[in-house]
Formats: sequence, C-alpha cells, structure tokens
Amino acid sequence: MFKHLREEIDGIMARDPAARSRLEVALCYPGLHAIVLHRVARRARDAGWHLAARLVSQVARSLTGIEIHPGATIGRRFFIDHGMGVVIGETAEIGDDVMLYHGVTLGGTSLNPGKRHPTLGDGVIVGAGAKILGAITIGRGARIGANAVVVADVAADTAVVGIPAKPVVPRDRAETRKFLPYGTPCGDIPDPVARALSGLLDQVTALQARVGELEGEPSGRRGAAPTPDRPPHLPHIETETMPARNGGLHEAQGETR
Ligand SMILES: CC(C)(COP(=O)(O)OP(=O)(O)OC[C@H]1O[C@@H](n2cnc3c(N)ncnc32)[C@H](O)[C@@H]1OP(=O)(O)O)[C@@H](O)C(=O)NCCC(=O)NCCS
Repeated sequence: MFKHLREEIDGIMARDPAARSRLEVALCYPGLHAIVLHRVARRARDAGWHLAARLVSQVARSLTGIEIHPGATIGRRFFIDHGMGVVIGETAEIGDDVMLYHGVTLGGTSLNPGKRHPTLGDGVIVGAGAKILGAITIGRGARIGANAVVVADVAADTAVVGIPAKPVVPRDRAETRKFLPYGTPCGDIPDPVARALSGLLDQVTALQARVGELEGEPSGRRGAAPTPDRPPHLPHIETETMPARNGGLHEAQGETR
C-alpha cells in the first residue's frame, strides 16, 4: 500500500517549486495525506468493509479538505496541490502523473449508479476551481484551465478554458507549450454575466430602432447621439422623467412611514 510513497513524494517535489525536502512534503502536503488515506480506504472497500472505507475517507476529508470516494481509481504519482474543496466521485478514474489544484470537482451529473464520473488520462493537469462533470474522458496530457466547467470529452494534449470549456491552444502547438502552474494569464474570460448583459444591450438597441421605425422617424434620430458622457451603445433615457419618478418614490416612502 505504501510502496509508491517515495515516488509520490518525488513527484510532488518535481512539480511544486515550493517543496524543499522530502520531510517537508511528507509532513505538510495535504494532497499526499489524502492519497495515502485513500489507498487505505480503497483497501477496506475492496475487502467489503464499506462503512470503514467511508469512515477513513471522511477522516481524510476532515484533515485535508479533499474528499475522495473510496471507489475512485487513481494511478501513480497523483498530486493534489493545496487541497481544500476537492471532490472526486465514486466512479472517477485517474491515470498516472495527474495533477489537480484546489477546488477541483470530478463529479457526476446523473443518479445512474453506474459509471457517472470522469476519466482522466495520464498527465492531465486540472487548474484551480475547475469542474469536470459526467462520464466524460479527458485525453492524455490535456490541460483544464482554472475555473473551467468541462461537460464534454477533451482531446489529448489540448488546453480548454471557460464555461462550457472550449479548446484554446491549437493541438499542433500543444506539445511545445509548457504548463505554468502559477501563470494563469489575464484575458478575455468568457464571463456568463457579461455575456447576458451584452445580449440585453443588443436587445434594447434593436427595440429602440423598431420603436423609431413605428413612429415614422429614422432609427438613427431615435437612438441617442453619442456624447463624451454616454457611450453610443447605451440606450437613451429621457432625463425629464426622472424628478417625477424620484418624487413618486419619496411619496411612496412617506406613505409607509
Ligand atoms: C488553461 C491553461 C493551462 C492554459 O495555459 P497556456 O497553454 O499557457 O495558454 P495561454 O496562457 O497561452 O492562454 C491561451 C488563451 O486562453 C486564455 N486563458 C488561459 N487560461 C484561462 C482560464 N483559466 N480561463 C479563461 N481563459 C483562459 C488566455 O487569456 C489566452 O487567451 P487569448 O489567446 O485570447 O490571449 C492555464 O492558463 C491555466 O488556467 N492553468 C491553471 C493554473 C492554476 O490553476 N494555477 C493555480 C495555482 S495555485
């Protein structure tokens, strides 16, 4: 059960520049403690001691913030950096040399008691906060961006980001790219709230143009002319109506006092 411990410690030292000695890794790395306890839990489960297995898993969760179901199948040199908020479901399968950061979920999307959690190929790296959901396959060497939500298979050697996750690096570039553990770059992150607001603004502009047409005026005159204070894409608001509204609000507040 502990025969791979040394190579796991060496694997952590190779992948975490902050690790200074084997003793430090053995004492201070919750990812290592979680995997050691998982192997105990897995042994207990294979022996038919399901409750004992779950209890060991719960102890590991309390100590490390990493919840690994005893049924999960995990390869060699598995490394969870930082721990905390990691959930690995019962039918998840993880290859060799896989690395997860904190906040990662390998979760299910159905109540089907069969295979319902992801399969991660060898060398997969999953960024902080990423969720990989369902009985999907993440190909060997793929990289999952921080905070991505992955709901479909990912090809080998592909980096994916966003919600839902999409490839960002062409596959022919993938082999030449290096994973930068702490180098998550800033970029045009596909934020769903920003996308929804942008859609609403488009609808307001279209409605404004339509009202202009219905009133028999050219839509260009209806749309507010851009001013330094107001970007051209924002809808025009008749400011003379505002005092009446504010007055109404004060009256309403007065009534409730
Ligand atoms: C996804 C990842 C592996 C890609 O790394 P990479 O191959 O070096 O890719 P790049 O840095 O060239 O980025 C490629 C594009 O994806 C965007 N991108 C990168 N990571 C992203 C993320 N997590 N979410 C959204 N977009 C992201 C970049 O802005 C860039 O966009 P652009 O082409 O429009 O400029 C990496 O950015 C990542 O998220 N790593 C996780 C790191 C982590 O979790 N660290 C925790 C340490 S505690």
